[in-house]
Amino acid sequence: MDTIIKEVNKNNIDQAVMNEASAILKEGGTVAFPTETVYGLGANALDKQAIGHIFKAKGRPSDNPLIVHIGDIKQMDEVALEITPIAKKLIDCFWPGPLTVILKKAKKISTHVTAGLDTVGIRMPNHPIALQLLKTSSVPVAAPSANTSGKPSPTIASHVIEDLKGRVDMIIDGGNANIGVESTVIDATGPQGVILRPGAITLEMCQEVLGENGVTIDPAILENAPKHLTPKSPGMKYTHYSPKAEVYIVNGEKEQIIDKIQRFINQYEGKVGIMATEELLENSKLPYTISLGSQEEPEKIAATLFKTLRDFDEMGVDVVLAEAIEDTHIGMAIMNRLTKAAGYKYL
Ligand code: TXA
Ligand code: MG
Repeated sequence: MDTIIKEVNKNNIDQAVMNEASAILKEGGTVAFPTETVYGLGANALDKQAIGHIFKAKGRPSDNPLIVHIGDIKQMDEVALEITPIAKKLIDCFWPGPLTVILKKAKKISTHVTAGLDTVGIRMPNHPIALQLLKTSSVPVAAPSANTSGKPSPTIASHVIEDLKGRVDMIIDGGNANIGVESTVIDATGPQGVILRPGAITLEMCQEVLGENGVTIDPAILENAPKHLTPKSPGMKYTHYSPKAEVYIVNGEKEQIIDKIQRFINQYEGKVGIMATEELLENSKLPYTISLGSQEEPEKIAATLFKTLRDFDEMGVDVVLAEAIEDTHIGMAIMNRLTKAAGYKYL
């Protein structure tokens, strides 16, 4: 399949490209586009066959449901059976933005999108190109992250091209996805919100809106979750975000971490990459390092996390040692992705 690749300036959007991409979506094709979190691979959520193309292009397990994206709040009727009071509060505060709400699905949404569930994830993204594309096409667009299943999500177009060129109809190159980790997924069907996947809309932010007891976290996604718990979000049970290299998390005090890394390097014969914050790397003489930036700016760490994991593959390292960061606010999303990339292995 030939893939059309078009560059679009998010501050001066070429409507002709939006029309072309919308036509492809309406004809049942696939279009990768930037959002504020990561790039998505979109298809018409009302077209079963088009949904099939997404699963095929990504090599995605068929039991992992897709998020439906809308560009106008009026489309909620088409997608959700009802908007619960919790969903209403969250939507009012955080849309458009990096938050996906899970609600009972409307009839029109096929179970191909929801992988057989009677609920659907819905998000209105906050990115001018994504919003313009959604408005122009006026259909709800199912869009998982635009990576090959299992790889880190793409935050720049070249990563999408690497994974999906020749497998999708169109890729819109709209520059960097600024947030860098996927949206927060929150189950809003019940009396209490349940975070199924942490993201840039943090637990603390949801607590402010829903009250301290108005929101919890799916216990199955926490670091030391008992093995018998299955995550409520099907996507969370897969190994994910993995570079080719094996990843280990290194935690502890600064000196302890450096010591653990040094000892590992001394006894390991392959090439070891280090992914750590500025604070850890200063004055340390470690090889093959990529700085994540400062611990004081976790948003910046999130923004480059997936690119860094892919960059280590380019460097051809065999093992990546990743410094653990504080597990609060957006740090919770970062550690969730990192521990999954590491398959929960610690040094
Ligand atoms: O930021 C994002 O959310 C990006 C951009 C493109 O919007 N999309 C994204 O989609 O990350 P994806 O498919 O890579 O991740 C969707 C996650 C998966 O973990 C999936 O299992 C979960 O959302 N999910 C979708 N529908 C669900 C449902 N009805 N119930 C529970 N989890 C659901
Ligand atoms: Mg994904």
